[in-house]
Amino acid sequence: MSVHALPRIAIYGTGNIGAYLGARLHDHARVTFIGRHRVIDTLRLCGISWSDLNGNHGHIGPRALELQLNPFAAAKAHLVLVTVKSSATAAVARELAEVVAPSVPIISFQNGLNNTAQLRAALPGHPVLAGMVPFNVLQRDRASFHQGSSGGLMVESHPSLAPFLPVFAQAGLPIGTRHDMPAVQAAKLLLNLNNAINALSDLPLRDELSRRHWRRCLALAQREALGVFAAAGIRPARLTPLPPRLLPSVLDLPDALFQRIAGKLLAIDPYARSSTWEDLESGRPTEVDAINGEIVRLAARQGMTAPVNARLVALIREAERRRTVWQGEQLLQTLRQSRPAYERPMAIL
Ligand SMILES: NC(=O)c1ccc[n+]([C@@H]2O[C@H](COP(=O)([O-])OP(=O)(O)OC[C@H]3O[C@@H](n4cnc5c(N)ncnc54)[C@H](OP(=O)(O)O)[C@@H]3O)[C@@H](O)[C@H]2O)c1
Repeated sequence: MSVHALPRIAIYGTGNIGAYLGARLHDHARVTFIGRHRVIDTLRLCGISWSDLNGNHGHIGPRALELQLNPFAAAKAHLVLVTVKSSATAAVARELAEVVAPSVPIISFQNGLNNTAQLRAALPGHPVLAGMVPFNVLQRDRASFHQGSSGGLMVESHPSLAPFLPVFAQAGLPIGTRHDMPAVQAAKLLLNLNNAINALSDLPLRDELSRRHWRRCLALAQREALGVFAAAGIRPARLTPLPPRLLPSVLDLPDALFQRIAGKLLAIDPYARSSTWEDLESGRPTEVDAINGEIVRLAARQGMTAPVNARLVALIREAERRRTVWQGEQLLQTLRQSRPAYERPMAIL
């Protein structure tokens, strides 16, 4: 197929997810990477390399990449993928409203519960669709992006996506279409509650989740979130081999039993870390407010509190100012103590 016949896809916010998705789509679509100097200048020099946990990899030289700093580069796109952190969504929504035609679908491939609503509010009449990236992408070196865990992309079902779904499938990124994206996003948020814990542990994800103290920290945060979801009438979808309501009990299990029952949850590349860890390492603000902070706000709207997640937000804010590394036992104790006395178990098990 001539390159001119390929669909034009704009990546709006070229960072880990945007660079990885764009690189994989590159041979099957005309991809425009829109981003900031920090990333775009590097890609201009080095091109993009991508790899995944199954050993697949590729490289695209700088001359073959369409790299842009200007939002107007999205004007010719047939499809826009929004891949900025949640704190940048409001600005991106305003920028897209200036440049993108109303018929062009816009997919938010972001974590958190409110990005799609923010985009929709600024882009009335546009098909703005919720998406979900289940896997982790880490920047290995300046221009190299590695998928460290598995899973298929998901997106809200919409007729405007029909021409693009085969393109993603050809690129090795099949997308599942869903009618229950709020439930999918809630389930993803439950898993993302680990981002903060992983960052505080300073361990690769697989090491962290292999150790019971860290898993128990996550179980506390998830149990609290499940209570808040139940009060708010939100039923998270099942994204893992285990249903969401069983996750905290399984995370609580001793290491050997956890390995036996939930070993699949540890099918993660040994180098993978959370994006919160990466943000702290590079001195950038994290997305904690849209993740653990979302549980705290949702709880407040239900007349509840979410002290465990509030404590995690506070610890990450502190780490943004001054990097601190925690031991699992120490964090577990701190999170337990953040709960009101009547909610704490009588004996520490
Ligand atoms: N990384 C992962 O493993 C992963 C996995 C699943 C889902 N997600 C979700 O995917 C989203 C993106 O995450 P990420 O890790 O790829 O973030 P990221 O690496 O920070 O990439 C976002 C990029 O967009 C740039 N940007 C911000 N505002 C912009 C604007 N107005 N125009 C153009 N570029 C702009 C940012 O620049 P500045 O840094 O200068 O602001 C940054 O380079 C998040 O919602 C995240 O939760 C991430």
